[in-house]
Amino acid sequence: MDGSVINYKRRIQQIYLPPCGNKYWRFEDIIGHNNIRYFSFGRHALAEGLIASDICKGDKVLIPGFICRDLLSAINSIGSVPIYYEVGKDLNISTAPEDLPDAKAILAVNYFGFAQNLSPFREYCNRTGAILIEDNAHGLFSKDEDGRLLGTRGDIGIFSLRKTVPIPDGAALVVNNPDIAYNLKPQLPFNSKHKAFSFKIKQGLRRLAPLIGPTSMQSAISAVRFLRKLRTGHEIEPSQPDAEFILPENPLPCSKLFSYLFSIDINEEIKRRIELYIWVDMLLKDMPCTPVFKTLYEQVVPYGYPFYSSGMTLIKIKKVLKNYAIRYFQWPDLPNVIISSAPEHYKTIWVVSFLW
Ligand SMILES: Cc1ncc(COP(=O)(O)O)c(C=O)c1O
Repeated sequence: MDGSVINYKRRIQQIYLPPCGNKYWRFEDIIGHNNIRYFSFGRHALAEGLIASDICKGDKVLIPGFICRDLLSAINSIGSVPIYYEVGKDLNISTAPEDLPDAKAILAVNYFGFAQNLSPFREYCNRTGAILIEDNAHGLFSKDEDGRLLGTRGDIGIFSLRKTVPIPDGAALVVNNPDIAYNLKPQLPFNSKHKAFSFKIKQGLRRLAPLIGPTSMQSAISAVRFLRKLRTGHEIEPSQPDAEFILPENPLPCSKLFSYLFSIDINEEIKRRIELYIWVDMLLKDMPCTPVFKTLYEQVVPYGYPFYSSGMTLIKIKKVLKNYAIRYFQWPDLPNVIISSAPEHYKTIWVVSFLW
């Protein structure tokens, strides 16, 4: 698709209020089975998946060093031990399977909704008997180049639904291996307590988006952030010092999770993400930055537009994005043990956000 034919104004507006639908769908139907448990956060889903896989205290879990530090709490909180492998600039694993240390489980991440090549992971699991966990926190609706839905390719899959759908919280553990599904605990009750005040404000602002447009939305968001800074000292809640060890307090998914999911028009949502990606790619084509992924292969549903940039060149890019009222953020907050030895490419990825 040629980026110049995209109605980018409409697509930018939909970052605040994604297209709604009224066609009934269930998460189970797109996954293809019922071995699913819902939680508030992906971290709870991962911890439960590890327990169901008989990962015990002291067992090693291999994860990429390029990861959000919060995820570690799922491993540390059950007493297992995270160990790390490296990823290259293309975000695929860069260590050969035979050179990886032994572990009870290995986590492959579909960064930003792009499929991780699972062949080296499968080779590793065949050699060691490790469980393969597909972290698909970013990749709801995305498929790999063979058309396989991400999150269904490993023994277990993790989804952080709240990252792609505007909901107060929501995540899923998908157990694809029947031997592990046998150990699953019953679904936790859904949480009917009132939604957080901050979410209510966000929902209210979302409805304003079509009326006031993205630029005024940016101003409204900046005003809310300013008020938050006055109240808490931070514009955006920082990652807590103990976030690598302590899971968020409440694991229960919100009671309206299914109605929030159902309100999404899947086909339109996929289209909007692909069009935004193509359009941002065109916008940044001659800018001093490099897209993380060389191609937008067929059937990928991008979480955002990730690119490499740093230093003075970043200032130029930020200016362009600001002109279109497009938001961006740096990802990830690296684990503490990784920060000092992290290769440069772990510290220079920015993501244009496709959902506010
Ligand atoms: C790749 C990845 N996996 C898992 C998680 C955990 O998801 P949640 O924040 O819903 O616990 C995150 C969170 O940022 C993530 O980026």
